[in-house]
Amino acid sequence: MARILGIGIATIDIINHVSSYPAEDDEVRALSQQQVRGGNVTNTLVVLSQQGHDCDWCGVLIDEADTAIVEQDLQHYQINYQHCQWIDQGKMPTSYITLSEASGSRSIVHYRDCPELSFSHFSELELSVYDWLHFEGRNIDELSRMLQWVKLNCPTLRCSLEVEKPRQGIEALFELADVLMFSRPYAQSRGYQTAADFLNSLNHDGLMTCSWGEQGAWLKHQGMVLHSAAFPPEQVVDTLGAGDTFNAGLISALVNGLSAGLALEQACRLAGCKCGQTGFANLDKAL
Ligand code: FRU
Repeated sequence: MARILGIGIATIDIINHVSSYPAEDDEVRALSQQQVRGGNVTNTLVVLSQQGHDCDWCGVLIDEADTAIVEQDLQHYQINYQHCQWIDQGKMPTSYITLSEASGSRSIVHYRDCPELSFSHFSELELSVYDWLHFEGRNIDELSRMLQWVKLNCPTLRCSLEVEKPRQGIEALFELADVLMFSRPYAQSRGYQTAADFLNSLNHDGLMTCSWGEQGAWLKHQGMVLHSAAFPPEQVVDTLGAGDTFNAGLISALVNGLSAGLALEQACRLAGCKCGQTGFANLDKAL
């Protein structure tokens, strides 16, 4: 078991389940609706906690009614959020999600009226108690200062960085993290058609992964590129947070000392299980 700190966001996800994705200007009726906590880093922590790790989250919480949804879920998964920055104005970031039962795809419209976590808040944390820090690749200027701070003050503390969306200046952060987790949309935004070509275009001393949906994921470590096939469920039910689950599987395996190849396979297995069910519950039994 490791002590892991995640830095990133929590959201309110309003999920409409529909039988198939509507065309533009259509009016359709949802089969059901859920309001749940979401957000990449907190999704990853919820899965890590189920893998037996002791998890803390640091991010921004708004003092408003919907925040109770986030708090209840974090409490349920025993994620400590006492280090969060509380703000008394604004709205928890909210995602309006259409989940298609025909394909399992999730289309997201995201609304934010919430400041990002500040470096000054982060710099107050006692980092020496953690075995691993996982950062969501957003809020680039402040994040750059956070990662540099970690390098300076806790040089042996391992850091992973999720690079899901292309954001200006994000490439400058790569050398500051030990593990980089790239998404297919990010690799494609850099002009690459395959994960292997993308990973081979980068020089990084640590470990890098690039997940590629139903084709599985690739990993580059010590000059070698490895591939794991995907582990698709019998039926794809819900792909929301599959990438966040992959990241949790990878971190859990690496922090437990598994080899790069086994870590990649474990991450793919866990992401596959997640796609076969709604939400993130019961992923403790997945592996
Ligand atoms: C899934 C997710 C959702 C959230 C959105 C934020 O990866 O974290 O839970 O609403 O992405 O971009």
